Order: sequence, then C-alpha cells, then structure tokens
Amino acid sequence: MCVESFPMKVYLETLGCQMNRLDSELVATTLRRAGHEMTDDPKTADAVLYNTCSVRRHAENKVYSRIGAHGQRKKAGVKVILGVLGCMAQREGQALHRRYPQVDLICAPGQLGGLAEMLDQAAIGQFALALDPARGESRDLGSEADMDRMDFTRDPHATPHSAQAFVRVTRGCDNFCTYCIVPFVRGPERSRDPQQILEEVRRLTDAGRSEITLLGQTVNRYRWQNGETTVRFSDLLARISDTPGLRRLRFVTSHPLDFGNDVLEAMRDLSNVCEYIHCPAQSGSDAVLARMNRKYTRAQYDDLVDRTRSIVPGVVLAGDFIVGFPGETEDDHEASADLIRRSGYKNSFVFKYSPRPGTAAAKRFADDVPLPVKKRRNNELLAVQEQVGLAHHRGYVGRCVEVLVEGPSPRADKLQGPAPDGTAQLVGRTRGDHIVVFDAPADLAGRYANVRITDATSLTLFGELSK
Ligand code: 5AD
Ligand code: SF4
Repeated sequence: MCVESFPMKVYLETLGCQMNRLDSELVATTLRRAGHEMTDDPKTADAVLYNTCSVRRHAENKVYSRIGAHGQRKKAGVKVILGVLGCMAQREGQALHRRYPQVDLICAPGQLGGLAEMLDQAAIGQFALALDPARGESRDLGSEADMDRMDFTRDPHATPHSAQAFVRVTRGCDNFCTYCIVPFVRGPERSRDPQQILEEVRRLTDAGRSEITLLGQTVNRYRWQNGETTVRFSDLLARISDTPGLRRLRFVTSHPLDFGNDVLEAMRDLSNVCEYIHCPAQSGSDAVLARMNRKYTRAQYDDLVDRTRSIVPGVVLAGDFIVGFPGETEDDHEASADLIRRSGYKNSFVFKYSPRPGTAAAKRFADDVPLPVKKRRNNELLAVQEQVGLAHHRGYVGRCVEVLVEGPSPRADKLQGPAPDGTAQLVGRTRGDHIVVFDAPADLAGRYANVRITDATSLTLFGELSK
C-alpha cells in the first residue's frame, strides 16, 4: 500500500535507559529525513510519541497517565496522533489499543526503522501496529536489517551533546534474570558487525564526538563470529580505541559474569578506555542471587571487585540493587548493605522490586515483601551508599581531574544563567563518571578542562578551573 506523506510536527518523549535515548535520537533523524519537524511542545504537535520503558510498573504508569490525558484532549476535539514506541509497545501489543483506543500507533523496539510509514498510515486514520516476534519465534531478517541500517545511517551531527555519542554494540538479552522483562521485549542477544561499529564510531569522531559510550543490555557479552575469526568485547575495545579523535571510550551496562581479565587488561592498557564500570550486583545474598538467576555467587562478585581494583588503577565502580525481591529476609538485605560497603561504589541505583507480568519471578514467587518494608530497605541501602559515596568523592579533594564539560549546571542555569563576564556554573564528568561542578567561561561546553577539586558531597565534586 502506498500512502501519501504529510509533513508533521512531532513531539517525542523518552523514558527509560540509554538504549531508549539512542533509539529516540535515531527515530528523530528518520522522521526529519521523511520531512517531519521535531518539536518540544506536545500541545502544538500533530503527533505525540512516547518511547517507553517496561522495566518497572512505575515507568509504565507514567505513560498510562499521559495516554489518559491525550484521550481527554482527543475527546474534546483536538486532532493529534498518539503513538507508543519501545518496550511497552512490545509488552502490551494490540491489547494496549483495545484498552486505550486513543492510541493510533504501536511500534516495538525492533520495528522503529518503519516508523515514518506508520505515521503516514496513522495520518489517514488507520491504526498502525508493528510488533517484534515473540521470543522463540523466528525473526524477520528484513526488520533486523532495517534496525541495523538505522544505526549505521544515523546523522553523526544529530547527537544531543556536541562531544558525546552512544553507539549500540549488542541488542537484546539472553540472561533471563527472573525479575527482568528485557529479554521478552528486546528479544534475543545479537552482536553487531564490528566493521559497521568501527565505521559508525569513525563518522562520529569525524563529526567531533570525542567521547563514545558503547551500549548493550549486557555490553561485555559482545561476541562476533565470522568463519575462523572471533571478535570478543576486549578485541572490540582495542579496535575502536585506535579511532583518531577518540579521547574517551566508555561502555554500559556490564554483567558481572562476563568480566574476564582480558576486558580488565584492555581497560588498563588502552589509554582512552575510561576506568569506569557500571556492574549491577542486584543483591549481596547468595539465596536471593540464585532466585534471581543471576548465575554468580556473592564470592564471585567480591572476586570481580578485587580483580578489577588490582588490574585497573583508579577504577570507579557503580552498582544497581533491587530491594524486596520475593523472599528477601533482613539478613539478605544486610548482605546487600555489606556488599555496598565492601565494593566502595561511586554511586548505586536502588530499586524496589516490581513484579513484571510474564517473567519467571512473577510466575514463581509471591511478591511477599510488603511495600513499607521495601521502602525502608530502599532508604537504608541509599543511606549506606551515601556514606560510601561521600568517602569515595572526598578522596578526590585536592586532586586535579580532567572534565568533559556538558554545559551549565541545571540548578545554576535556572537561578541566574551566565554572569556579565561570561562565566557560569558548569557541570561535566570525569573519566570515572563523577559529576563535577565548577565556575568557568560558559563557552567551555563540549570541551575538556582540568579542574582542581576543592569540595565533595556523596554525589558531586566541586572545584575550580586549573590554570
Ligand atoms: N523490579 C525492580 N527493578 C528492576 N530492575 C530490572 N527489573 C526490575 C524489576 N522487575 C532494575 C535492575 C536493573 C535496572 C536497569 O533496573 O536493577 O539493573
Ligand atoms: Fe526500560 Fe529495559 Fe526497555 Fe531500557 S531496555 S527501555 S531499561 S525496559
């Protein structure tokens, strides 16, 4: 079917992880190329799209309430196309449209390459639906190729930040942690062709993007097999690190099981690979880790932390924890607190367990930790992390660090903006992913600066520009 294209103003809001942020960037490029214009104002948009997250109920609730509000507007006669993209689109599928008929378009993560045509279809009043095959069903090579093409043909100048870019190296996940929806909504794990990745990185660095973050749900499981040749994640890091103009190479998120010494040695030996690892533990208790199907024990995680610290000088670690997983006892909880203390994380993200329909944990285990207990445990882990994070950050006071300046610090920008002499309170990140706030000329955004650290809180370093 051939449908005429009408130029539209499109509002696109992103929820969830970095993978979604990258998908949204690529979607915006695709839509601009199809003649549409992106807008920041949902009220005047012809199409409102939400790129959604299913990882916790809370993230989904945000989208349901926005869908509800647009339903009211549409009832009141406002003409707007309402679209749901990403993980929720895949998780709910057609059922979302049955419950919310105001939704005109539903597009799963692997189908975003065809979004422009779907918008055209919705514009003539036809419901547009494109889902990925369920796990176990065969995958359509056409839409896989469309997905790869979207990454490969991206506009290297369209990144939200002038010096930073995300580059996908794997899609999907085969780990099946029992709490997690990702293997169902993002499909099986696939690694991208290293040649394509290298070429994409080269185009981005040619466009001035000097900090590249490699993305994957379990990024360090990257593995490409072609005939006799195998490219492991450490090999990929080595190949990419040679790219001219690449000053910082990062990667998220890692799985603790897949950290061979080859990756740690690559981090030590390749000067532009940043010494930062986000490596979620999820729990410090063997019993909980086993029920989560994390496939490692507490002792193995401790060993990873020790190996990392002994091989990669100055390494900075960050973690994720889930509190209130089914059956979690006070002793299990204390084991997580102990793991935070032992690991010395820069920061940890702590989440209350949220049962996700269809996952093994939702089927097998009752959600038996009451909400007030989850809240208390959440606060307790955050309090432990605050102490650990403060000690970690204080260790930088008096030192000089290299900062990639991201822009005005959000608070200062709201309060005053740049001073008459052009100085402003800026925010940037170190190689170790520390947030650094300091005063400097506002035009330093997108560039590197050396900053002497004078003060620290549990989440932020403060400093002054070093002469
Ligand atoms: N409930 C709570 N937190 C979850 N996460 C993943 N699934 C769930 C869930 N069902 C957390 C994990 C993961 C992070 C992205 O989200 O800590 O590392
Ligand atoms: Fe959310 Fe996970 Fe999907 Fe990212 S991959 S959007 S975190 S559900």
